[in-house]
Formats: sequence, C-alpha cells, structure tokens
Amino acid sequence: MKRLSIFVSGNGTNLQRIAEYFKDNHDVEIVNVVCNNPKAYAIERAKKLGIPVRMVTKAEFSSADFIEEMAGLKLDLIVLAGFLWKIPAGLIEAYPRHIVNIHPALLPKYGGKGFYGEHVHEAVVAAKEAFSGITIHYVNEIYDSGEIILQAYTTLDQKETPDSLAAKIHQLEQAYFPVTIQQLLFWS
Ligand code: GAR
Repeated sequence: MKRLSIFVSGNGTNLQRIAEYFKDNHDVEIVNVVCNNPKAYAIERAKKLGIPVRMVTKAEFSSADFIEEMAGLKLDLIVLAGFLWKIPAGLIEAYPRHIVNIHPALLPKYGGKGFYGEHVHEAVVAAKEAFSGITIHYVNEIYDSGEIILQAYTTLDQKETPDSLAAKIHQLEQAYFPVTIQQLLFWS
C-alpha cells in the first residue's frame, strides 16, 4: 500500500482529480489532506471525498512536533497541490526526494515567492510569452527550484487572457499530475 498526503491552500481541483484517479486503486491511500487556509474550498472537497483534514497554523507547521507527526505517517509521497507555504527544512529532511510540487508555469521562469495561481498567468500574458505550461518538481529549501520531474507545454494565442491561460494550464494539470504521481509511487 502506497501512502500519500496532499497539502492544499485553495480550491482543491488538483486534490479532487488525484483522489478520483486513485479511487479504485486499492494500492494507494490518501492518508490525509494538510491545509493551512480555513477558507480553502479544498476542505469541503476533502470531506466529500472522505479524506481526513489536518489544519495547520504557521507556528505548528514548522514545529518539531508537526514534522514528527508527518514522519510518523510513513508516507511514500507528499504532494503539494496548490500549497502556498514554504516547506520547513525538517520536513524536507524527513522526506528526501519524496515531496513534489506542481507549478503553473515553465520553471525556472515565473517561479519563486509571489508567483502562484493567477499571478503567474497574469505575468506570462503581460510578457506576451509564446508558451506556458506546468512543472512538476521535487521540493527543496528554495521556492520552485527543486529538480524537475516533468514539464508540459501549451501555446498562448494573440488574444490570450490570464483566465483563458489558467483554463489551459488547468487541463494540463488534470492530465499530467495524477499519472506522474502514480509513476513516482510505483516506478521510481
Ligand atoms: C494550481 O494551478 C497549481 O499549479 C498552483 O495553484 C493552483 C491550485 O489549484 N500552484 C502554485 O501556484 C504553486 N506555486 P487547485 O487548488 O485548484 O488545485
């Protein structure tokens, strides 16, 4: 049995898709959802999906107790699915090369602090980029700079808006994130 924890801060569409993808796979269990934002719609999604939610405060998140709690879950992978806090070094040390993030741009461009969600798409459209995409990468101590596992591309149209680009990126995320997680769990 492979054990997953999914960290979220917002809407939770990636959480939903991952949970649905593994629903009938009895070799994968989403042990919990860790959430830092009491207003996140992802909490409702997790409840409907029957996955326990562990809310965390900022102080708790970097505490030794939380890191120990997570280490005790014996996870095979921690998945950051729209999670917006930096991961404490202690957790990265507890799960080396076992924490992955999805970023809604082609890193190393449009990464780092402040580049998340729609802010990324606004910057990409403003710069009139020809391409954008998604990056799935391992997490290290520096925002959006861990080793890249997969990138997928889409093109921007002349009339592209941040919203229309977000929809394209969303499709790429839905298509590639669960299957990449599966590959990491079983074939890496
Ligand atoms: C996703 O587009 C994800 O790539 C992005 O937040 C969104 C979360 O959506 N992550 C980042 O920007 C991380 N820097 P969701 O809550 O609906 O899954």
